[in-house]
Amino acid sequence: MSEMLSRVDRAKLPRHVAIIMDGNGRWASGRGLLRSAGHAAGVKTLKKILTTAVNLKLEALTVYAFSTENWKRPLAEVDFLMHLFSDYLEREKREMHENNVRIRFLGRTEDFSPLIQSQIRDATELMKNNTGVKFNIAADYGGRDEIIRAAQKLAAKAARGELDAENITVETFESELDTAGQPPVDLLIRTSGDMRISNFLLWQAAYAEFWFTKTPWPEFTPEEFIEALIEFGSRARRFGGVT
Ligand code: IPE
Ligand code: IPE
Ligand code: MG
Repeated sequence: MSEMLSRVDRAKLPRHVAIIMDGNGRWASGRGLLRSAGHAAGVKTLKKILTTAVNLKLEALTVYAFSTENWKRPLAEVDFLMHLFSDYLEREKREMHENNVRIRFLGRTEDFSPLIQSQIRDATELMKNNTGVKFNIAADYGGRDEIIRAAQKLAAKAARGELDAENITVETFESELDTAGQPPVDLLIRTSGDMRISNFLLWQAAYAEFWFTKTPWPEFTPEEFIEALIEFGSRARRFGGVT
């Protein structure tokens, strides 16, 4: 592992990595397990990937934990995911804090239970002055929903006479997004073979490099994560220009 870390050219690291942690259910079903066992295994992967991000001193890591569309799943699965989320926060927040991680939650959050809402507030408050990895958990998150909420906030400001419509710029718009103050996504990883964005970070990933792997999230390793980061370093990003 330390040998792998030493192969990373720090100057070529992405500032912001986002991950669609997909494939927990299929991984479990394929082994004759319940989908919930896949989600539990996925939490272990997340712990390892966050540790790797801390070791690499990545600037920002965003993970997709629960989408605005995931409420459509069977109630038992949604319930299980909520308990897992709650346990994860309870179990991990102290170590995250010790690692100087600054946690933030992207998404709506008001449909979560009062317990989870208070855990979200507590964890955010606990780590708000930390200066290490910006770790964003997207939960009840949808890119369209986030953009609409930002538009509503700007419209409300305009209605109060605090903002002229002509002064809505990329910067003012971004300042209303859940990721305000953070760099755009440089590298977007999706595990488990599907090649789609599924309503994740639609604005922030405008110029992201994509990296897909067939590996299901429970089997994703720090080694493969680093492989993606190294490959990112060899991409030619043009941002519409010429090289
Ligand atoms: C990702 O794994 C976790 C969540 C969406 C919460 P899935 O549950 O989507 O697993 P698959 O894609 O059905 O295998
Ligand atoms: C995206 O995965 C959401 C998360 C990983 C939390 P989904 O499994 O919900 O996406 P689709 O349904 O395959 O597009
Ligand atoms: Mg899925």
